[in-house]
Amino acid sequence: MMLEKSVQMPNLESTLEAYKIAYEPELMPPLKLMLTEGIDTLEEWFRWAEEWSMLLRFYGKLNADSLVLEVGCGLGRIAFPLRYLLRDIGSYDGFDICKNKIDFLQQNFTPSHPNFRFFWADILNTYYNPNGRFKSTEFRFPYPESSFDLIYAASVFTHLLPENTQHYFKEVSRALKKKGRCVFSFFLLDNYVPGHPRPLGFKKPSFNFDHT
Ligand SMILES: C[S@@+](CC[C@H](N)C(=O)[O-])C[C@H]1O[C@@H](n2cnc3c(N)ncnc32)[C@H](O)[C@@H]1O
Repeated sequence: MMLEKSVQMPNLESTLEAYKIAYEPELMPPLKLMLTEGIDTLEEWFRWAEEWSMLLRFYGKLNADSLVLEVGCGLGRIAFPLRYLLRDIGSYDGFDICKNKIDFLQQNFTPSHPNFRFFWADILNTYYNPNGRFKSTEFRFPYPESSFDLIYAASVFTHLLPENTQHYFKEVSRALKKKGRCVFSFFLLDNYVPGHPRPLGFKKPSFNFDHT
């Protein structure tokens, strides 16, 4: 007897659905908003997002059912690839201090991905939110104790002074589940000597840390 191997042809409708999900142009912020984040090419948007998605899977043990919080979510650049990973069983919460970014995400991201929620925190930052009402040190993350499997911050503590970072660490520890993980990025300033010519990578005027 000869067994016939049945070849499963992809269903056209689900293929089209997959393309629609991959494309989703409404999730791409307008260039004007991207520029406020220092992003001027789509390559930079996608490179950063994919790099972080890999870091979160590797160091953060991110899974399809993870409950995730992003501190300082910006324009949802990293949420963008996570929507493939978290699907419906996992969830993503993100907060940021820039109202226009959160408005964009609430209007464009959440409607098509309701398990992705965004919150605006009106916190003072001389660069990002100069008229903010609250200090970072007064801000209680708007989530109950032990809510998340993974909390991450990509290029956010690089914008915070030490006392604010210390307070955020306490909030992270409160909101993280037991055995939860966090993934944060920092600058390593081993080669940076205040008052001396800055090493490559820190030459831009915005990378002047001499006041610290
Ligand atoms: C370089 S952007 C990174 C944005 C996003 N994490 C990403 O990877 O695309 C830094 C973000 O940190 C946010 N930020 C600055 N201070 C903050 C604070 N105290 N709490 C939460 N977010 C803050 C800024 O508004 C900005 O969106």
